[in-house]
Amino acid sequence: MRSNLKLAKPAVPALSEDELRHLEETYCSHGDTVHYTDKPKFFSGCEGSFVYDATETPFLDLQMWYSAVNFGYRNERLNAAAHRQLDCLPQVASQYLHREKVELAALIARDAEEKFGHKGRVHFNVGGSQAIEDSLKLVRNYTGGKSLMFAFEGGYHGRTLGATSITSSYRYRRRYGHFGERAQFIEFPYHFRGPKGMSKEEYGHACVQKFARLFESEYNGVWDPKAGKSEYAAFYIEPIQGTGGYVIPPMNFFKELKKVLDDHGILLVVDEIQMGVYRTGKLWSIEHFGVSPDVLVFGKAITNGLNPLSGIWAREEMINPTIFPPGSTHSTFASNPMGTAVALETLRMVGETDFGAGVMEKGARFLDGLKDLQSRHAIVGEVDGLGLALRMEICKSDSYTPDKATLDWMSDEGMKGDLLVDGRKYGLVLDVGGYHKNVITLAPNLMISHAEIDLALVLLDQLLTRAERR
Ligand SMILES: Cc1ncc(COP(=O)(O)O)c(C=O)c1O
Repeated sequence: MRSNLKLAKPAVPALSEDELRHLEETYCSHGDTVHYTDKPKFFSGCEGSFVYDATETPFLDLQMWYSAVNFGYRNERLNAAAHRQLDCLPQVASQYLHREKVELAALIARDAEEKFGHKGRVHFNVGGSQAIEDSLKLVRNYTGGKSLMFAFEGGYHGRTLGATSITSSYRYRRRYGHFGERAQFIEFPYHFRGPKGMSKEEYGHACVQKFARLFESEYNGVWDPKAGKSEYAAFYIEPIQGTGGYVIPPMNFFKELKKVLDDHGILLVVDEIQMGVYRTGKLWSIEHFGVSPDVLVFGKAITNGLNPLSGIWAREEMINPTIFPPGSTHSTFASNPMGTAVALETLRMVGETDFGAGVMEKGARFLDGLKDLQSRHAIVGEVDGLGLALRMEICKSDSYTPDKATLDWMSDEGMKGDLLVDGRKYGLVLDVGGYHKNVITLAPNLMISHAEIDLALVLLDQLLTRAERR
């Protein structure tokens, strides 16, 4: 923890928390939030790995704004980039150019060309869901208007209309009907809850074989063998499932899947909105799996959450201006100078050292600690991780039956701010995900210190002990 904490200082006399809560209940839509708890907590300051309430109690954040703040709250270098841009060119319409946009696009595209072996271009928007919408337009445009996609069970791609239709939860579509896209949801190799008696690799292979069977006969509804064409345009994947519970597939999985896609002319769209920007120890999590995307979608941590800049990288033949011309998608705020300046600084910062190696080392230390907790607490069913994308399944005492109620209780308990370590009170910020909403999806600050990792493990230990005793 650093000492230059600044709590928000209101310009007008502060309202009490009760008054604010009353205003919130009266005037704020709940539709734009997740409202997991009846009384969401107010926070007033943040620094590094911590958020602080009005009493200056530190809450160690193990979800970092759903993995948007990968480089720590109020990161000095990135905040300085934002301040610099604010003082020179904070606003400019997107038909004009600014240096940061061009340099950022070139940096991402050159890196992708080196890693994936394809020339491509970068296209900006605001917010992950909007970038997913843009990718859907790009795919539909390139495939002659095909609107059917494959996506994974447990996949999450956002809450706009198109993004919701390729997200597995019907809950997010139920009230609104259909607007165009539809996805067929394919089994993801979630090994812990998969069929027994198969290794992780065998299960991954079995999932691909099951998918490949769809193309064996025209009667399976996706493939015209006479024309050699599929009715489906693209497969949308998260290499590691985010909202689905930080599920890590076997390393053979995407190579095998990509072969089936290539054999049937289906594009691969990789959603890196949550797992990108070093969450798993690499700029893009797909780099772990040895396959090249046709389209890659990013957002969140590219600006450390300072600005909702998002975007897509796509292969040149899909996105060059003759096929995807000006105005194909546009938002007033796309490629805005504040966002592009911070994103450029983010990528320069991580490029100066072997940033990924540090993430892998800290991730291994954290995972060892989680394994130790698993060995001491029967309610921990499984732990796993890649880099600093870590998971812990909370179960009944049989270490397998999902226990959402206990995890909900634990996350509320963490919000009380009364966990005691060396005479100091702490809170713990946890995120809940997974197919049964019983997974702690751990996305700590990538710049977390060893001491903070150890603190996280002590705090989790206390919460697990309280949960088992309640
Ligand atoms: C994998 C993935 N895709 C898309 C989105 C949607 O991004 P946004 O919330 O910025 O619209 C998210 C957000 O959590 C995500 O995790």
